[in-house]
Amino acid sequence: MEAAQSREPNGKIMNELPKPDPDTVARQSLTQIRNKFLVMSGKGGVGKTSVSVNLALALAEKGFKVGLMDVDVHGPDIPRMLGRKDMLTMGDNKKMMPIQVTPNLKAVSVESLMPDKDSAVIWRGPVKHGAIRQFIADVAWGDLDYLLIDSPPGTGDEPLTVAQLIQDAKAIVVTTPQEVALADVRKSISFCKTMKMEIFGIIENMSGCTCPHCGKNVDLFGAGGGEKTAAAMGLPFLGKIPFDSQLVLCGDAGISYSSQFRNSAVTKAFAAVAERMRSEA
Ligand SMILES: Nc1ncnc2c1ncn2[C@@H]1O[C@H](COP(=O)(O)OP(=O)(O)OP(=O)(O)O)[C@@H](O)[C@H]1O
Ligand SMILES: [Mg+2]
Repeated sequence: MEAAQSREPNGKIMNELPKPDPDTVARQSLTQIRNKFLVMSGKGGVGKTSVSVNLALALAEKGFKVGLMDVDVHGPDIPRMLGRKDMLTMGDNKKMMPIQVTPNLKAVSVESLMPDKDSAVIWRGPVKHGAIRQFIADVAWGDLDYLLIDSPPGTGDEPLTVAQLIQDAKAIVVTTPQEVALADVRKSISFCKTMKMEIFGIIENMSGCTCPHCGKNVDLFGAGGGEKTAAAMGLPFLGKIPFDSQLVLCGDAGISYSSQFRNSAVTKAFAAVAERMRSEA
């Protein structure tokens, strides 16, 4: 950190107080948040946002204070899945106020900064880094038990920024069971190893589906690939979330799936992962 220099009116050079490095400030700002999880995947559309939202709701339902941070800058889906179109507001302390979704759940998303929700965000890496840093340092998160961070697919700028700024974040890697998704998951695992980010575990989403007509199980995308990958790589396997078309409808409508389908296999599977986050994190 270097002291900036400026001139006094008499021409003498004076040293101003050194400016703190913004990345360091961001790193220091999350001390009130106990557990941080980055939800990531190698492939798009495997259910990261659905997993982030439903795990956040499951933890909030258990009575924990939870934050949900959407760092998918180009495809922010968290507000839609939560049914919230609010803009972020500024609090008294000049910090952004997260959207209060339920008494125990707060959320922020780039979309909540955009008056026109259909405009594309066209930002290069450094701008994305700055925006995500603001979501970390300039949001009044307060005291939280869990912060869940929903990222875009792959190992680009967004997960990289999170890995650099939130060094105690643990990764939850989401995959679907088929080989084409698993090949990409191995890249996410390699990213975590390179960044020295602990992998909390792998979730196999869209794993089997109960046929609404005959009641038999149908393996839409194969079966067991996520579990086998976790075993092969010596990583914890967090569980299988079945495919349920009601989850699509609830996500599109911004309705909490678990509050509608309390005893479904999907709700139980999310609750089981949330329980592991409680007991093992
Ligand atoms: N277990 C599931 N059963 C049925 N539909 C699901 C399930 N999980 C996710 N979906 C649906 O699949 C679609 C993609 O899910 P989602 O947006 O959560 O994926 P994503 O990995 O976040 O995508 P992206 O890579 O674009 O961010 C959504 O319509 C969602 O409702
Ligand atoms: Mg998503």
